[in-house]
Formats: sequence, C-alpha cells, structure tokens
Amino acid sequence: MCGIVGHIGSNNSVEKVLEGLKRLEYRGYDSAGVCFKDQSGELSLYKKTGKLVNLTNLLKNIDYGSSSSSVGHTRWATHGAVNDINSHPHLYKNLAIVHNGIIENADELKKDLVAKGFKFKSETDTEVFLGLLSFELEQEKDLLKATSSAFKKIKGSSAFVIQSKDSDGIITVKNGAPLVCGVNEILGEAMVSSDPYALMGFVEKIFFPDDDVICFLKKGEINFYDLDGTPSNRYLAKDLETNFEATTKGQFEHYMLKEIYEQPALIRNLVDNYFKDIDLNLEKPKRLHIVGCGTAFYAGMVVGQIWEKRLKIPVSMELASEFRYKDPLLLPGDLAIFISQSGETADTLAAQKLCKDRGIKTFSIVNVEGSSLFRAVDQNFLIHAGQEIGVASTKAFTQQVLTGRIICEAFADNKDFSSLKQKFSLLSHRIDELLNKAELFKDIASKIYNFGGFFFTGRGIYYPVALEGALKLKEIAYVHAEGYAAGELKHGPIALIDERMVNIAIVGPELFEKTLSNIQEVKARKGVIIGIGPEVSELRNICDLFIPLTFEGLEELSPLYVNVANQLLSYHIAKHKGTDIDRPRNLAKSVTVE
Ligand code: G6P
Repeated sequence: MCGIVGHIGSNNSVEKVLEGLKRLEYRGYDSAGVCFKDQSGELSLYKKTGKLVNLTNLLKNIDYGSSSSSVGHTRWATHGAVNDINSHPHLYKNLAIVHNGIIENADELKKDLVAKGFKFKSETDTEVFLGLLSFELEQEKDLLKATSSAFKKIKGSSAFVIQSKDSDGIITVKNGAPLVCGVNEILGEAMVSSDPYALMGFVEKIFFPDDDVICFLKKGEINFYDLDGTPSNRYLAKDLETNFEATTKGQFEHYMLKEIYEQPALIRNLVDNYFKDIDLNLEKPKRLHIVGCGTAFYAGMVVGQIWEKRLKIPVSMELASEFRYKDPLLLPGDLAIFISQSGETADTLAAQKLCKDRGIKTFSIVNVEGSSLFRAVDQNFLIHAGQEIGVASTKAFTQQVLTGRIICEAFADNKDFSSLKQKFSLLSHRIDELLNKAELFKDIASKIYNFGGFFFTGRGIYYPVALEGALKLKEIAYVHAEGYAAGELKHGPIALIDERMVNIAIVGPELFEKTLSNIQEVKARKGVIIGIGPEVSELRNICDLFIPLTFEGLEELSPLYVNVANQLLSYHIAKHKGTDIDRPRNLAKSVTVE
C-alpha cells in the first residue's frame, strides 16, 4: 500500500505534496514524510510516525515555501516497525526516495550491499533500492541509467519516486504498483502520485505509465523511457478536469457516514448512466468466474447468485488471493469478472492476468477509471460511486452489485429495462427511508456495543450480506464479529452462544420459516437477538431488539437494503467504541501488496 507523491515546478511544492498526501492517506497512515530541496539546493528531510497531522505539526516552523521540488509518502508498514526511522522518504547522500510495494529479494540484495559497505539505517526493503541506486550512480554517473540498472535487480511489485540533489527533475518508475504522472504546462509543473485523485486540480493532463517505464518529470514536461534508455510511448494519456473541489465530509461527522447516505442518489445516477443501450463486447459465457477481495468479493457473491439464477450458467465466486494460486480450471467459453473499488488490489490484478494469459476474456466492475484493472481487461463497467474515502467500503458495495445486476440483464439479451429500473428506484426510496431512522440504529448500538461478540447470520441471498456485515463491524469497531450461514450455526459456532453473544439475524422473505428456527436455536441458548426483517409478530416477538424492513418488490436487490442497515449498525457501534472510523487501525483502502 502506501501513498507516494512527487512534485516539481512552482515554489509551493511542499504544500502541493502535503495536499496530495492528505488525499492519499486512505492508502496508509502509519507515518508520513516529505523531502524537499531547500534554498541552498540541499535535500531537507522531515518524517514522523502516526497520521499526516503529526508531520504537518512538525513542519509548522519550517520554511519550505520557496522549495520547487519535493517528494512525500504516507506509509502502511510492511518491512519494519512503525517508527520515525522506518518512515519514508529515505535519504542517502544526494538521493531521496519514496516507495510503495515490496521488494521480494530484499534480504538477498541486502547481504551484498552490506558486504560492499552500505550502512543501513532502517529495517525497510526500500533502503535496499536506495543502496543499489547509489552504487549504480557511482558507476554510471547518470541518474536515468542508474535507476534502470537498480530497478532491473529487484523483484516484486513496487513504485518509486526518486529525488536527487544533482538533478533538475524527479524520476519515477514502477512495476505492478499504481502510479500516475501529470503535467501542468501553463504553470510549468509536473507531479506524480499513486492515484489520480491526488493530482486533481494541480495538473491538466495525466499519464499512466506501463510497467518498466521510467518517467522523468521536469518543470512542465515529462519524458518517458524504456529501461534500455530509449524514448518510450508505453503510457496512457488522459485529460484531467482542472476545476476540482476536494471531497469534504460536509455536514457528516465521518466520510463513512456521508458515503452511506450518498447511496440513494448514486443508485438513481446509475439508472441514468446505464439504462440506455449497453454495448457488450463480450459473448454470453458458458461459465462465469467472479473474482475479488474483501467487500468486493462479497458483492461478487451477491452478483453470482443473481447471474446463476437469471442466466442458468454455472458461476464460481472466487477470492482473488486463492484463485491466483489454485491453478483454476478455465475452459473455452468461460468469462471472468473482476470486482474492485480501487482497481489496484494486487491479488485481483494477478488473478486477472492469469485469466488473460490463459486466453479467458475478462471484464471489470470497477470504480476508478484508468486504474490498473481498468486498463487490463477486455471491457469495463464503471460503478460510478465517486471517490470513496472511508477505508471501510460502503457505497462501492451497493454500486458493484447493481452494476453486476444490470450487466446480467444485458447478457440475458433483455432490451426492456423498465421493470429493473422500477426496482432500482424502489431500492433507493427504501434506503432513503432507512437512513431517516438513524435514532433506531443509535439506540440499538448503545445497548449492544459492549457485548462479547457478534454473529451476523442469513440464508440464501442474505448470506453474503451477513458476511459483509460482520466484516464491516470488525473493521471499524474492532470487535469480534463473524458472518455465518444461519443453517450452519448449529455445526459448531453455536458452542459460543451465551448471554454475552449477539446474533444479528437477517431474515428476508426467502427461507423465512427456516431462518426463524435458526433464531430459536440461538434464543434457547440465551443469545441476544437483533432481528433485521419484515414487520411480522412471529419474528418481532423472539427478537430482543428489532429493525423492521419492507421487502416487497425488491426481490434480488433486497440484500442491498439489508446491508445498509448493517452499515448503520456497525457505524453507530464503532462510534460508541470511540474508534477512528474513517481510518481504522492496521487497514488500508487500497491493498497493493500480496
Ligand atoms: C481492502 C479494503 C476493503 C476492500 C478490499 C478490496 O481490504 O480495506 O475495504 O474491500 O481491499 O479492495 P478493492 O479496491 O479491490 O475493492
């Protein structure tokens, strides 16, 4: 993970890098740092453990206003403890670097470097690249050539930004990690970052370099080179909107809450975006593989059930980290869908590459246009969720499922979307109603937040949202929560049920009676039941607390409605726990390492 930013051009370089880091903090927040060229042309380094605010406090009395070249970093620790020394940038002699990724052969390379006399200051793998680079530079005397030679020696997925006291530019290169450069020719600036979001408002043109392309950023221009030093055209260029307003929390206390409340409007927008003609470049598949990680995987589980029923084709739902190593059975006529908010998740990208290499057509359901996944697949379906800043994914889940639902209809060769359109409108309306019941969720959360553990249960189409509900709660409230198929509870986990255990029981119209019996089993063992289901007395009477929902007309979309109830419950429990809801400990939003 980690976020990297570099800037060259106008005098407020550090300010721009800090603003970029602020927008990238979702990528990691163990520490932050910045290195800039000061008035005398020397490299000045500042870094601090903890969130970006610690770095900005450290910089309060530092005069960086005149610097026109800087690199910055926000860290999600992989190699080495969370401390100031392991924070980036790393500096050696006249070179400073920031890094996102993992150098897989770091240990081996480190031994060589130590033998040659390089003195390591930190425990990071990043410093290995710095060591390599400095030795190469001594020999080559040319930063481009040295970067290329050092980069060829490392294995794994990485992106680097390199600043040298002796160079009038900054250099960046990547392999398998996200990176985007941008220029502002009018202002004579160039920038680089892990995500276009950090460049918005600063540059007017962006470039996504391919792997192994070295980008040399100067004031108002970028030159691209292959590793052999010849000019390269291996990049994708795009214009970027310059009048940008950074996303704010508005009236909401957290981004996560804001994003939960955005859902009805986003659903309505999706209708406008998609319910026209859908161009399918792909044939109806014989079999389908749906692949993703975390919340995107659970969205895939919902989508998979819908596709299997509607298209009558076998669908397998796969965790990307498992799929990529299991030598999956891929046959002619198979199609693979990759679901991802960021489009940068390392395991998802590797799984897509595997399918592509094996001749299987791939498409994405993705939020970030221009992301690595977006560029790799045969066809893209954007989910139009807007920037999702809260680390715990909420609105992306809803949009992923709905986009999958629409594409399914296109594959069914149905040109009449009217009834689906109505269902989408109904869903947005019901979610609106639910969002108006904040007091109910606050009240329930206040009564249960201190219990010993939480089981989210559901059957059939509600099983994936039981899994997603538990994931959300543990991510943001740091409590033990599990998602279970309600009928499976008796095969082991029921041993955990006592008066300290809460069962968030999702009961939809599908398999109503069966799910009710599962609740009875928990109730008989003194478990606390929070029911989420239709307003009927058989259900309400066995629940300790109850969230009534109106399912009529929603059918296969009803898991999304239930999921919003889960999101609100998790949010309010986390508030009672006093956790950092938007940036939960140990997590990062975009997981670009294995
Ligand atoms: C991380 C995030 C999750 C997300 C998962 C997949 O673990 O914390 O919220 O669901 O990655 O991310 P993607 O960007 O591929 O949807």
